[in-house]
Amino acid sequence: MRKLILFVPLILFLNCKKQPAIPTGLVTEKAMVVSAREEASKIGVEIMKKGGNAFDAMVGVEFALAAAYPFAGSLGGGGFMVYRKNDGEVGALDYREKAPLSAHKDMYLDSLGNVIPGMSTVGATAVGVPGTVAGAMEVHRKLGSLPLKDILEPVIALAKKGVVVTEKQAARLERVKESFIEVNGDSTKYAANFKPGDTIKYPELALTLGKILKQGKDGFYKGEIAEKLAAFIQQNGGFVTVEDLAKYDAKWRVPIVFDYRDIRIISMSPPSSGGVTMNQIFKMMEPYPVSKYGHNSIETVQLFVEAARRAYADRNYFLGDPDFVDIPLDVLLDDDYIQGRMEGFSFEKATLSSDVSHGDIEITESDETTHYSIVDADGNAISTTITLNGAYGSKLYCDELGFFLNNEMDDFSAKPGVPNMFGLIGAEANSIAPEKRMLSSMTPTIVEKDGELYMVVGTPGGSTIITAVAQTILNVYEFNLSMQEAVNAPRFHHQWLPDMLMFEAEGFEEDLKSNLKEKGYEILEGRTRIIGKVDAIRVLEDGKLEGGADKRGDDTAVGF
Ligand code: DON
Repeated sequence: MRKLILFVPLILFLNCKKQPAIPTGLVTEKAMVVSAREEASKIGVEIMKKGGNAFDAMVGVEFALAAAYPFAGSLGGGGFMVYRKNDGEVGALDYREKAPLSAHKDMYLDSLGNVIPGMSTVGATAVGVPGTVAGAMEVHRKLGSLPLKDILEPVIALAKKGVVVTEKQAARLERVKESFIEVNGDSTKYAANFKPGDTIKYPELALTLGKILKQGKDGFYKGEIAEKLAAFIQQNGGFVTVEDLAKYDAKWRVPIVFDYRDIRIISMSPPSSGGVTMNQIFKMMEPYPVSKYGHNSIETVQLFVEAARRAYADRNYFLGDPDFVDIPLDVLLDDDYIQGRMEGFSFEKATLSSDVSHGDIEITESDETTHYSIVDADGNAISTTITLNGAYGSKLYCDELGFFLNNEMDDFSAKPGVPNMFGLIGAEANSIAPEKRMLSSMTPTIVEKDGELYMVVGTPGGSTIITAVAQTILNVYEFNLSMQEAVNAPRFHHQWLPDMLMFEAEGFEEDLKSNLKEKGYEILEGRTRIIGKVDAIRVLEDGKLEGGADKRGDDTAVGF
């Protein structure tokens, strides 16, 4: 009897470990949107309550973010969407910005061949041809179910009514106010001092959306809006023309799909590096008993960092726009090749990035972003990451049309070997060419388990996106955290070069860091920034949904 008493708690404990984590985020029965702002999440949910599907909701959320989260949501940016329908069909849409027709390899270099500071990051010279409207319209055309009117009218109403400034938003606006004035002059809307609780209205954006409602994609890429937009960019010294706008199209891509143990991960393909790099990281880790090592333990951190180091070395060398460069995907994603890359890895000692290069493959050649996740009542899921690149993109704000323009041209490698604003070193594969799409790290991802929808996940964060998404998936799958805990958990990052391990400021013991230093890891000291702002959804065993809305921002899950 005594033995039994001792034994029962042990059995219960072991069984509990196998049970999926108890949800700690919002739980709803049928449908959910998790995005950077409650206003945008609500619009998506209202659309689904009216009978719209996840794709209709996506179109609404995408446009609502232009008003609710202009830090990254805008008609002047671009993005990637990965979807999984309830019948298991998967797909991916690329509505990434592209280089204007007049662009060329050395456009950001001076006569001595040096990168001109700021030219690819601030103001009109940094602007790539925007893809957002083409992306949203293409999703609606192919996969939507409601008339555009039912989707856009609530968004137009939100833009007219305005959005209340939060504490975090006021702080961000204050930080970049001087740059807004430098780029746009002091008569711009954004020259004002916004305080928490103020309402910012977007009547010009409402008019632009009205035009899109009447004329669809052409309402933005042709005619009056296109002429105004191109003239505005050029007057400010930029390169985008009406011809560039008229020629822009979103492109359907085949997503990257791979298995990790008994889950299947569906993520974005080039011109995003997200899916390829995450595939490599997971496959390098797979032979190791990750869950045994424990969440953020020294073994887990080492294994993850060494995998990321090697995967980013390949990323930076081989990846670019697949319509312009031959990417040896068959080799890069081959299990033997990937596992071979981990030769030389040891828990005893850090590998130096200077000893890691891209893999030996013969090729025969002839900051700011936001993510949202949606699941509808029928089980269709979409995972979308959109960006202007930097905070408020190039800072160039078109007062007449009501939106910011991207500085996505900085995601190209302006000069091989010179780091971009995320410290990423690029190579020839990501050099600038007319109409080429710049390499991205955006990683909108969907995870299946036992053939069923399991998770929808993604984040902003520039080069840290891939590691933040991978860690969130591992947190749920290997370490049994709830979706909300997985999203909130502290994160770390390594991207090969610079050879530097970065930890978020809170949540990591000094002991862990000093043990890693002893093993030869360089650790970024001083104030470190947050890593990602993940918005995710987990499907629970009973079919309900758990939201994970990142505590690092104003992110909110809404559902029914
Ligand atoms: O496409 C990319 O990888 C970058 N333009 C993303 C920028 C970003 O996430 C900034 N947010 N923190």
